[in-house]
Amino acid sequence: MPTRVLVVDDDTSERSDLAEMASALGFQVTTAGNGREALEKLTAMPVSVILTDLVMPVMSGAELLRELAARGDRTPTVMLTGFGTLDQAISMVHNLKAFWYLEKPVQPGVLRTLLDRAIQQHDLVAETERLSRQLSYQGVLGEMVGDSPQMKEVFSLIRQVAPTTASVLITGESGTGKELVARGIHQLSKRSAGPVIAVNCAALPESLIESELFGHEKGAFTGAVERRAGCFEQAHHGTLLLDEIGDMPVGTQAKLLRVIEESKVRRLGNANDIPIDVRVLAATNQRPEKAIQEKRFREDLYYRLNVFQIHLPPLRDRKQDIPPIAAALLCHLNRKHNCRVTHVGPGVLSRFDVYSWPGNVRQLRNVLERAVIMAGEGEIQLRHLPDALAPAPPPVPQDQSADVLRVRVGTPMNEVEEAYIRLALAYTKNNKHRAAELLGISLRNLHNKVRAWANRDTKAASANSVDL
Ligand SMILES: Nc1ncnc2c1ncn2[C@@H]1O[C@H](COP(=O)(O)OP(=O)(O)OP(=O)(O)O)[C@@H](O)[C@H]1O
Ligand SMILES: [Mg+2]
Repeated sequence: MPTRVLVVDDDTSERSDLAEMASALGFQVTTAGNGREALEKLTAMPVSVILTDLVMPVMSGAELLRELAARGDRTPTVMLTGFGTLDQAISMVHNLKAFWYLEKPVQPGVLRTLLDRAIQQHDLVAETERLSRQLSYQGVLGEMVGDSPQMKEVFSLIRQVAPTTASVLITGESGTGKELVARGIHQLSKRSAGPVIAVNCAALPESLIESELFGHEKGAFTGAVERRAGCFEQAHHGTLLLDEIGDMPVGTQAKLLRVIEESKVRRLGNANDIPIDVRVLAATNQRPEKAIQEKRFREDLYYRLNVFQIHLPPLRDRKQDIPPIAAALLCHLNRKHNCRVTHVGPGVLSRFDVYSWPGNVRQLRNVLERAVIMAGEGEIQLRHLPDALAPAPPPVPQDQSADVLRVRVGTPMNEVEEAYIRLALAYTKNNKHRAAELLGISLRNLHNKVRAWANRDTKAASANSVDL
């Protein structure tokens, strides 16, 4: 399909200016005066990318995006924003999955980059989807384990993107496994025999980060006592992971972009460029769109790195992964500490299942490491868990009706009692007299139990705020 762009704008002169600009940039152009007309044109002829104004009579840019989504049409769309519509355009990117927004007046150079990137990313995603349909799923990739549909999707994306040269932006909360994803991509790439270097952009003071990345010559600055190759040179023929990219100083980001674009690096204190062959992966636990909006993350660098994105969901959204990850970690931790722990007990697994895991897999690993050391052998039991992991289980599982308690076998008796009493309280709308009556216990007994739970929860909440 030729690279065709659909320009949608109700203002005739703006529309023809944009059409002219796009055509001068080498795109074939179709135009429409509003969203409705755009849909008609799209039915007649598919396009590679849509460039649309936001505010239009008949059918606005937002309505057009909604209609495209409803039709399953995923043609990438760039929103044009005029004065006062920036917030709306950003929300289109977040909520309606527009590719990006472009502020008027439009600059030809920016327009070209944006249209190229939109098309490139769209093609890659389409190719990935095609290939991933051909793949059989497995629950393991390198050191990564996961049975959930979300992790199988992540494994599939890793397998697809690994053999390419595309940059990958890996996002997800702290401890979700971003570094493991990066290592998985390296291992499955043609560069697996080469080095994989990880640099944490948050850990380095601003003054040191450039010398760390690009290297320096002896005497380049005070303290440069000898010549040093930077991470790019060290990762030659291999992979460089820029960890916590969202924390890199903005000035350094501009230099980084140049190095990536030109595949050349210049050591501090040297006037010559050194050619480098490095695949760049980047990871961040921040939301990149927000960092860009706050001008902490350069938009052009984001485009360059975000050719492909892999998002790791938090562990609380994929609890199904906990048992297999725990089993894999047990093997590793047994070896590390010379222990013979056989399994995680059912009571512990149900506790794990109701816990929210703010520190994700890293926290699970730390909890298990402590438990393996404490248990030494046999089963991991509740007494091997830190207190912080013992907040009240949710009183009523969500899949039950208001007057029925469903309990998983292996749930400790005290938890069953608590869940049952909480259910009675919820059922009576917190009428303690009535709840005590239903439960067949004294009001005083009920009060004591509720107070004890409240004390325990307060303690657990304060312990929880300390990193486990
Ligand atoms: N799916 C998984 N299977 C097994 N182990 C995992 C998995 N995900 C993460 N881990 C383990 O959890 C720990 C944290 O993983 P990793 O360092 O990759 O997280 P991260 O997202 O890079 O965290 P941060 O944002 O804090 O840098 C590591 O010990 C890793 O081995
Ligand atoms: Mg990391």
